[in-house]
Formats: sequence, C-alpha cells, structure tokens
Amino acid sequence: MCGIVGITTNGNAIEILFPTLQRLEYRGYDSAGVAVLADGNIKIVKKQGKISDLISEVAKSNFPRYAKVVIGHTRWATHGAPSDENAHPHSDCKSKIAVVHNGIIENYLELKRRLIPKHNFRSETDTEVIAHLIEENLELGSGDFESAFLNSVSQLEGAFAIAAITSYASGKIMCARRKAPLVIGMLNSGFVVSSDVPSLIPITDKIVPLEDGEIAIIEPNNFTIRKGEVLVKREAVSIALDVQKAEKGGYKYFMQKEIFEQPKVVEDTISAFLSQWDEIAFPPYKKIIVTACGTSYHAGLLGKLWLETIAKENVEVDYASELRYKDKDFSDSLVVAISQSGETADTLESVRIAKEGGAKLVAVVNILGSTLSREADIVLHTNAGPEIGVAATKTFISQLTVLFLLSLKLGGLRKDSHLVSELRRISEKIDKVLRKADSIESVAKEVAEFRNALYLGRWVSFPVSLEGALKLKEIAYIHAEAYPSGEMKHGPLALVSPEMVAVFVMPKDRVFKKNISNLKEVTARGGKAISVVTEGMDKEVEGSWRVLQTPETLEILTPFVTTPVLQLLAYYAADYLGYNIDQPRNLAKSVTVE
Ligand code: M6R
Repeated sequence: MCGIVGITTNGNAIEILFPTLQRLEYRGYDSAGVAVLADGNIKIVKKQGKISDLISEVAKSNFPRYAKVVIGHTRWATHGAPSDENAHPHSDCKSKIAVVHNGIIENYLELKRRLIPKHNFRSETDTEVIAHLIEENLELGSGDFESAFLNSVSQLEGAFAIAAITSYASGKIMCARRKAPLVIGMLNSGFVVSSDVPSLIPITDKIVPLEDGEIAIIEPNNFTIRKGEVLVKREAVSIALDVQKAEKGGYKYFMQKEIFEQPKVVEDTISAFLSQWDEIAFPPYKKIIVTACGTSYHAGLLGKLWLETIAKENVEVDYASELRYKDKDFSDSLVVAISQSGETADTLESVRIAKEGGAKLVAVVNILGSTLSREADIVLHTNAGPEIGVAATKTFISQLTVLFLLSLKLGGLRKDSHLVSELRRISEKIDKVLRKADSIESVAKEVAEFRNALYLGRWVSFPVSLEGALKLKEIAYIHAEAYPSGEMKHGPLALVSPEMVAVFVMPKDRVFKKNISNLKEVTARGGKAISVVTEGMDKEVEGSWRVLQTPETLEILTPFVTTPVLQLLAYYAADYLGYNIDQPRNLAKSVTVE
C-alpha cells in the first residue's frame, strides 16, 4: 500500500531518500515519485512502475543531486489508474507546494468541484485536491503556510497521512495524521518521516509516532507536534528490529528466506512469551472476541480452536472488516486483535469500536511501536522480525505460537506443562519439513500446471487449508478455495474433475478416518489428490495422486508442521511460473485503507 517518506537534514537528504523508498517497495505499489525544493521552485519527478524506473527518470532529469529537504512516495492506486500523472507528489497551480498522501480523502469530489473553476487539476487523484486547497487557503488567509496547511487539513474527511513541502517555508516538512500511520524517526542529523516503521530499520532505531489528529512541523534541528492549539510533548521510543533480518541473505526471495527462518522464529517467540509468563495478567472478562484480517484471521481461527479445546473459553472470531459493522455488545469482553503490521485499517477501526464498547484489548502484533501495539491494554509480541515478502509466512507461525501459549496461559497450565515441552520440540520438526523442500518443489511444479485447486481439511487443519489456499492464490495466481473436507458433499464435490487438484491436509488426528472417506469421494470422481499426511500414514491414503509427509507431533500441534508444506507448495509453484513472489500484483503488505 502507499508509502510516505520525507527527510529534512543538514546533510544530503537525497542519499537517504532512494534507499528508503526502496525499503517501502515491499508494501506493494504501482508508481513512485519524489519532490525537492530547488531554486525557489518545487521540482517533482514521478513515474509509473518500479523505483528503478523512477531512478532512471531522475537520472535523465535535472533533479538536484544534493538537497536538505525532500519527500517521496510509493503509490498503490485507489483514485485513478496507475500512471505518471496520478503518481505522487502532487502540486498546486504555481508549483510551490508538493504533497504526498496515504489513505483516502472522502470529500475530495466536493472539494474538487469547489476548486476546479480557479485551479488547474492534472490528475484523477484525491490527493491533488490537498495541494490546491492549501494554495487557496494561502491566498485567502494571511499568507502563512502553516496556518493554510492546518486549515486545509481541518477541511479534509477520511483517513489519511500527509507530508508536504513548500517554497513558502523552506526547510520544513508539514505532516498530518488521521487514522493512517506516520512516524518521525531521529537521524544523526535531522529527521525522517515515514508511514512504515520497518523501512527505517537501517537509519534509525528511535521514533516518535504521531497520533490521530496531530500535525507535525519538522525542521532539520527540531520538530513540533500539535493537536489543535495544544503543543504535544512525546518521548522517542525504540524500535527493536534487526537490520540483517531485513536482508535476503542469499535466498532468491524474501518469502523463501522467511519460510526457512520459521524454526528460529518459533524458538524466539516461545522464549519471549515464557520470559513474561508470570507477569502477563488479564482483566476479568466473560467472553473472548478474536479479530483480524487475511492470514492473521486464519491464525485467529486456530486460536479459537486452541482456546476452546485447551482453555475451555467461549470464543468468537470475526473478520475485522465485518466486526466493525455489527453493533456487537463488547462489554465484559477481551478482544484479541491479531496483526503483523499493527496498522491494518479495518483491524484498528474494529478494536477502537470494541474499546469504546468496554472491551479490553490484547494485541498479538509483530511491529512494536505500531498503532495497534500503542492502543492495546496488553501486547503479546510475535517476535518474528521484519517480514518483507507480502505473503505472510513466518509471522503466521509466530502468531500461532503466541496463540497456543495464550491458550495454555488462560487454561491455567504451567509453563513446565507437557504441552509447553511439546511446543518446544516443534521447531525441530518444522526444520525437518524444510529439509524435504526438494520433494515439495517437484510436486509444486505439477501444481503450477493447474488453474484451480481445492484445499481440504477438518478441525485444526481447516484454518491451515484456508491459509494454504490464500498463499497459492496470492503468489501463484492459481484459483484456490478451501473447505472443511466434510462440506465437500454439500456442494463443492460438483467441481471435482481431473482438471482440479485437491490438497488434503490430513495429519494423524481425531478426524483422520473421516478425511479418508472424503479423499475417496474425490479420487473416485477423477480428482487429483495431494495428501499431506503424518509420516508412516502414506499407506492409508492410497489412491492419492501425490503424498507429502510431515513429522509426527501432538494432533493439536499439527498446524505447525502442515503449514510450511503448503507455504512451500505455493512458493515453488509461483517461482516455477516466474512470478515476482515478494511483490504479488495488486497486493500490499500493510493494508491501511478500509
Ligand atoms: O498486518 P496484518 O496482519 O494486519 O495484515 C492482514 C492481512 O492483510 C495479511 O495477513 C495478508 O492477508 C497477508 N499478507 C497475506 O499473505
């Protein structure tokens, strides 16, 4: 999704600008642009395509090689197609102001209709309205840029983060935040503003996050934050993220590296959780409501099964994009919000509604310092390190680790219980799966020939199937749907044919025998079944087209060993098809629009 960067320094901001923009690439985008103040005018270069295309365009232009104040942007199209014209930054008629923006200005049409008689619009975006609105407010007001900026922001509706530079106030970056992330990072000389904490990893480990409704004015030697008329004082917080973990380290794609990091991630997550075990305390509650989006939602479905099975809790799970519209009674509830980024707009909005309704908020989150982590009553850190591939992998496994331990904790188990000991053994078993990557790769090449796939599993393997199908869709662009295997005969069985591959996730567990019957229903109708089974169970699944085996573990822990098989299946299929795995088309790492 869109990314903002702005730098104001006494040194050369250009040197920091492009590497930081490149670190925003992982979020997903379709065009990019930069703006600098040169000779009293704003100079903008923007380009549809990749940052490398932008850099070539900059090289051909007279864009300065040295500047103290710059802004840059990666755009993920919402209003208007991906194009050079619609890329940010956008400027006013006189090219004195440049604006970059994330989010959506909901009243942009109304504002544009008002401004259009006197202003020359050059794009279809909602963002361009901001530049012209500031220009108008400057002309109508005292000519003071800061007041014009403040006045303009107060006229905007929607959720947004904005950064602007101008020749009327050189050296300054004006920023505004309303329900879209924006942080100020401390540099050795000056400051950087960004919408994405991980993009700052190599250049700073100290940030000051902005809160909703705040405006910041950033200069090379200081910054001020205001909410309305009130000056806000806020200390910087540390972001504990590791530079090396944000590099590919010899792997072809980040996603591959992140899949192979999972054994270590599980160990780290267990250690961190156990080290706080005695301090974690929950307020009284009557029910648990789990909410999240996408992959994190699938982790939530598993969390529900564990909380019900181990802790005998009463648990509901809902997509955050649905929960927020449901008029639910949140009183006496513990809301567990799961998010890698901690910035997903729907998740943030639903937890705010839940908190207003009296819920206490537990955040299962990977980015400390993110909005979700700051708004939570209790933070359970997933400790996966930066995840750069758009497709979530290691963060899913770390979410499972936290949710499993949370179930033990709420179930009153001790940290030396046999379930904790079994969990501690799981990273070795994940490693064993990864060591068999070759056999998964050869099956994946065959999967790549299909256009449709079904993923089938029961009980704890159903959320795993949902996650496996999502991975295949998002990176290999193969249509994949997941069903509880028992649901096949109620409709989806009609789809089965030799053109349909069916991935059965059926480890040795309480529903294994039931799955065998469902497997037979599929193979008897010519369906090509890939059975993911526990080692030694291969004889039981005869008739399967292909069999992939996982190490034995407790039935309740099987998602930890079946998930990596499905991740690799999708990864190798996508790689065989030659896709850009880390940045799948149309997708964004951090989904900050509703
Ligand atoms: O950052 P979050 O975990 O809140 O993101 C939610 C989803 O957008 C995310 O899990 C998405 O489904 C995955 N990147 C897909 O692999």
